[in-house]
Amino acid sequence: MNRSQDSEPIAGSFLHEAQRFISRGFSLSFKPSCVLVTGGAGFIGSNYLLRVVPRYPDTLFVNFDLLTYAGNLENLTEIETMENYRFEKGDVADEKRVAELFESYGFDAVVHFAAESHVDRSILDPTTFVQTNINGTLVLLRVALSNWESDFSKCRFHHVSTDEVFGSLGSEGAFTLDSAYAPRSPYAASKAAADHLVRSFGETYGLPYVLTNTSNNYGPYQFPEKLIPLVINNASLGLEIPVYGKGDNVRDWLFVDDHCEALDLVLRNGKNASTYLIGGQQESSNLDLIHILLDEYDVGTGNPSGASRDLIRFVKDRPGHDFRYAIDNSRIQVELGWTPSHDLKDGLKKTVDWYLSNEAWLKSVQDESYKSYYESQYGSRE
Ligand code: NAD
Ligand code: DAU
Repeated sequence: MNRSQDSEPIAGSFLHEAQRFISRGFSLSFKPSCVLVTGGAGFIGSNYLLRVVPRYPDTLFVNFDLLTYAGNLENLTEIETMENYRFEKGDVADEKRVAELFESYGFDAVVHFAAESHVDRSILDPTTFVQTNINGTLVLLRVALSNWESDFSKCRFHHVSTDEVFGSLGSEGAFTLDSAYAPRSPYAASKAAADHLVRSFGETYGLPYVLTNTSNNYGPYQFPEKLIPLVINNASLGLEIPVYGKGDNVRDWLFVDDHCEALDLVLRNGKNASTYLIGGQQESSNLDLIHILLDEYDVGTGNPSGASRDLIRFVKDRPGHDFRYAIDNSRIQVELGWTPSHDLKDGLKKTVDWYLSNEAWLKSVQDESYKSYYESQYGSRE
């Protein structure tokens, strides 16, 4: 086995590294023929599959998903009958099952989305976060390694991760490739551990990988536990809108289509053994965001202007609530020419319009388990 020749640039050398990469030209294009997409029935995974399955008809995409509360095959009806798409139900932490899938399909790429993804649930109970996010990632790495180690030249493991691994920013600055890991929630800690495992497989065994750390996504098919769909859902049900603390925490919002476009570029043209930070460049405090969102909601539903703002309630803060996230996008901009194409107002308008046109979807994902989670987190919905 050869250790990768292209390992991560050392701290501070990124611009130099990027210039060397450009001077060599964009010759690294990777063209997978059979991709294992884990967690493809979730929010980002389904948006990704809806985009790449029609785009690459000669590539087979196998969606492997446990269909937890967050996974929904209805998201994928547009592509479910396409010849280059398959669904397989199962758990990424089940090594025997993952090995059988590799055996049957002969994957040359993995795009790993599957995770427990909600911070508040990780605070209520971190157990499944460790099992899926850490052990599940380890299983995928072990099986990929044993299938690929005889020839690493035509395969790639893309690990999809979060900016939350870097912890919390003050009011200035942004996360960069030099930022230290400082996760502060069980969710973030589990994603940080998975990131370290991925890099360790690259460094130790030469497994070809790319890793992306991304800011808050929003858009169609997001489960209504997350802030933006929760606000829309509660407004539509006339329920109070819970704002943690004073609503002054800041997030860098990225429309999910822009994220999926970036992921496609990184898988195909990203440099081996490299990390790309992906951010929306659209920072907002939670309260400002909720105001824009509710105003769009009132326009979309014909409510009197400002009416839904009356539903806002300030509630007890999230324990260990990270104050601010912001991303320095320069590597993906310089190397791969990607920038986000949505500003927050456009993206929120598209999102509100989507949820208003897909009320049946929103209703269908709120089963008894959602109601019981909601009550543990916020108290009674009555
Ligand atoms: P999600 O919760 O909407 O979807 C997760 C999917 O994984 C679901 O389909 C679920 O059924 C599946 N899954 C869960 N456990 C599984 C298991 N053990 N085996 C197989 N499948 C399993 O999550 P999302 O928001 O789409 O996030 C996808 C990935 O992107 C995650 O790794 C998350 O950490 C990362 N990420 C999310 C955001 C964001 O803002 N949503 C931002 C940055 C990174
Ligand atoms: O930064 C990327 C991360 O973004 C992803 O890794 C996570 O998977 C994703 O869930 C998201 O994490 P956040 O914790 O930032 O997202 P959430 O939608 O839960 O919350 C956004 C902000 O809104 C945060 O400051 C907490 C606040 N909030 C959230 C909820 C659910 C509220 O004020 N009230 C709420 O009811």
